[in-house]
Amino acid sequence: GEDERLAAFDALIAADQRIEPTDWMPPAYRKALVRQMSQHAHSEIIGMQPEGNWITRAPSLKRKAILMAKVQDEAGHGLYLYSAAETLGTTRDEMLDALHSGKAKYSSIFNYLAPSWADMGSIGWLVDGAAIANQVPLCRASYGPYGRAMVRICKEESFHQRQGFEILLALMNGTDEQRAMAQESVNRWYAPALMMFGPPDGESPNSRQSMAWKIKRFSNDELRQRFVDMIVPQAEILGVTFPDPDLRWNEERGHHDFGELDWDEFHAVLRGNGQANALRLAKRNAAHAEGAWVREAARAYAERTATSERI
Ligand code: 3HC
Repeated sequence: GEDERLAAFDALIAADQRIEPTDWMPPAYRKALVRQMSQHAHSEIIGMQPEGNWITRAPSLKRKAILMAKVQDEAGHGLYLYSAAETLGTTRDEMLDALHSGKAKYSSIFNYLAPSWADMGSIGWLVDGAAIANQVPLCRASYGPYGRAMVRICKEESFHQRQGFEILLALMNGTDEQRAMAQESVNRWYAPALMMFGPPDGESPNSRQSMAWKIKRFSNDELRQRFVDMIVPQAEILGVTFPDPDLRWNEERGHHDFGELDWDEFHAVLRGNGQANALRLAKRNAAHAEGAWVREAARAYAERTATSERI
């Protein structure tokens, strides 16, 4: 009965075992995974836009090639995660409808504009750096397809993070104007990148249950702190500063203290009032419409080959 199945599920979680698509799982566990995995996939797909806008304006062929590869990787991560989410019974159309209608969330960070070339560096270094800090623990998520998808994605993210750091390093070793451009960009991306980890633990309605199910392995604040401790020495190597007067090493804690984040801004962005929410959704809907003929052709081809096999 239901009690035995729930006991078996709880035993797998307690033993740090993977839950696979064919295993019984509580409906709420399934729902939590569809929510997080689809929103993760949406983040990857929308995340293609800020960088996609710079491919035609990259300062060299080398930078253009790297940026193209990165945007293609993000698309692949999105499709990977949509496929992993489909193992839970949701469909691609359902997930895309939720995104296109503005119902589904995607990472707040992509609702910030990227007006300067140096933003390609800050996004790689800070945004992909934060994504890595968040995604490495997700490799151990209790749901098999999600954890395994993360292993592949984390490998590619480390290239994304390094190329971003290298863009900023090149600028910081350049002219005064280039150094100023790099610093101005870091000033804009520092706080929004810290907010990628989600609201403070006391205001995180999903965390307790998500951690009990071993989907989330560390709390939002734990990962945010880990990320701050990681980027401070990296900023020193770059020679950039962070726009945070409260940022300092705290010997007793063995971590860096940092300033309060603007959670009103965070919630405004989540409500759709960020710099680029409307722009990102309009672009996404236009791309989906433009791609309709490809989906139609693929469906027609699949039907034709299926019937020919039947004959
Ligand atoms: N942006 C948008 N929404 C956010 C958010 C953010 N940065 N942080 C939290 N939220 C939302 C949550 O989705 C939740 O809303 P919901 O219940 O309607 O889904 C609400 O705010 C409360 O937050 P919680 O802390 O309770 O929610 P979670 O337990 O889900 O924690 C999370 C939030 C840490 C983002 C978690 O969902 C997670 O780890 N998701 C997978 C990782 C992910 O999505 N990363 C995106 C990074 S960007 C990227 O991947 C592209 C990169 O490669 C360039």
